[in-house]
Amino acid sequence: MGFFSKDIKTMDDLFLHTLQDIYYAENQIVKALPGMIEKATNRDLSAGFKTHLEETKTHVSRLEQVFKLLGQDPKGVDCPAIDGIIEEADDIAGDIDDKSVLDAGLIAAAQAVEHYEMTRYGTLIAWAQQLGRNDCADILQRTLDEENATDKKLTKLAESKINKKAA
Ligand SMILES: [Fe+2]
Ligand SMILES: [Fe+2]
Repeated sequence: MGFFSKDIKTMDDLFLHTLQDIYYAENQIVKALPGMIEKATNRDLSAGFKTHLEETKTHVSRLEQVFKLLGQDPKGVDCPAIDGIIEEADDIAGDIDDKSVLDAGLIAAAQAVEHYEMTRYGTLIAWAQQLGRNDCADILQRTLDEENATDKKLTKLAESKINKKAA
C-alpha cells in the first residue's frame, strides 16, 4: 500500500496510517539500539542508549494501547525514512575507526532518529486532538516528552564531552 494509494480516504485513515508508520519505526529502533549500545565507548552514551531502549519498548506498547483505543489491531507499514536513517547510521559507523569520533557519529545518528520520531508524534498528537481523540493524544504526548528529553540529553553529552574529545 503506497502512501498515495486510494486506501487513505479520510483524516481517520491518514491518522491510522501514520500510527502504523511510527509503530514500524519504533520496532526497527528496538532492533537497532542494541548495536549502538555495543558500539558506543563513552559510558554515559551507552548508558543513555540502554535507557532509551527500555523507553522505546514502552513506546511500542503505548502505540498498542492507542491501536486498542481505536479498535484496531497493531500493525506496521514500511517506513523507508526510518530504514534509511538506520542504514546510514550503520554505514557511517562502519567507516569510523577512532572511538571518540565514532561516539560523535553515533550521537548524530541517534539524534536523526529522535527528530524523525518527534515529527511523527507531533503530527499524530495534533491530528488526534483535531479528531476528538484526546485519549490517544495524551498517550502519544508521554512518548513525545521522552523523545524530546532524549534528544536534549544527547545534545548535552555531545557538547559537554564527546565532541571535544573527538575533535
Ligand atoms: Fe520512540
Ligand atoms: Fe526515541
